[in-house]
Amino acid sequence: MLPQLANVPRVELARTPTPLEFCPNLTATIGGANIWVKRDDETGLALGGNKVRQLEYYFGAARAENANTVLITGAVQSNFVRLAAAAAAKLGLACHVQLEERVATDDPAYRTSGNVLLDRLLGATIHSYPDGEDEAGADARIREIADELRAQGRRAYVIPLAPGHPPLGALGYINCAEEIVTQSGRNGIPQFDEIVVASGSGSTHGGLLFGLRALEVDVPVHGVCVRRAADIQKTRIENRSNEIADLLGMTNPVQTTDVVTDDTDLAPGYGKANDATRKAIQLAARTEALLIDPVYTGKVMATTIRRATELGKGKNILFMHTGGTPGLFAYPTALMEA
Ligand SMILES: Cc1ncc(COP(=O)(O)O)c(C=O)c1O
Repeated sequence: MLPQLANVPRVELARTPTPLEFCPNLTATIGGANIWVKRDDETGLALGGNKVRQLEYYFGAARAENANTVLITGAVQSNFVRLAAAAAAKLGLACHVQLEERVATDDPAYRTSGNVLLDRLLGATIHSYPDGEDEAGADARIREIADELRAQGRRAYVIPLAPGHPPLGALGYINCAEEIVTQSGRNGIPQFDEIVVASGSGSTHGGLLFGLRALEVDVPVHGVCVRRAADIQKTRIENRSNEIADLLGMTNPVQTTDVVTDDTDLAPGYGKANDATRKAIQLAARTEALLIDPVYTGKVMATTIRRATELGKGKNILFMHTGGTPGLFAYPTALMEA
């Protein structure tokens, strides 16, 4: 662990190290670089995913503040929300979740299955927020709900979403960077020529990049935009690196040229799959029995396949499987359209 992280409050939630595996059938089908997968869909809590590593630090902060109630906001099918509800259940805390209308759909599966079903099963109290693009407004509303709960005597801790807060979640991906560096170059696992990762709130992309550069590992990290255009997302990741450096009292090791954001597979927008994404989801399932989702990892796989072809044979590319599997059950129609 990076020594600067040692004193940051943390609750262990993730089962790590997660496996790092070769995808021989997918590689043979694509015919380009060797495709490997980091199985962060197997972080062990309530169907897993990247957010488990991030929540270790938010729940660490909540515990340090002696909170008994945790609040979080996210999309209706948010994996972060589901995993916060799971962590709260496991740690014996109450959980209030606010679901934002980010995707315009009346599909009953979207509204009742996947992560929403799990939020209910995990016992979270559900609130809704009518706007999907108003990050600051959604954060402000969840803070109001926290104040209402405090007035009732609860000790509330809010997991923030909008930028401008200490990026605790990104610390989980500094740990993951170290894990990948430790796994590489042994047991048949190569040193990678490129890592491809989803770039949403930026905690995963930002933390991973920061962690690698802090360890003086210069592998390119290709960020796949899942919510915003590449230029806006690049600024977000640059800011995130500065915020991490501030939080840890370190010099920022990330250069502007390190921050790569690619929005080729973003269209038609957040939470909506395009043809390349649907095909990538089917291909991953049919060649490697790898289950990936339409909102995040499907888009990352579409980009990975393109990058594997561009890099060419003999190179090694690492696809970060950040989870999101419950999303499969929320988009049954859209998924089988390809
Ligand atoms: C499955 C999955 N992958 C990737 C991401 C993007 O991670 P981040 O928000 O840290 O950028 C998310 C975000 O919710 C997610 O749920």
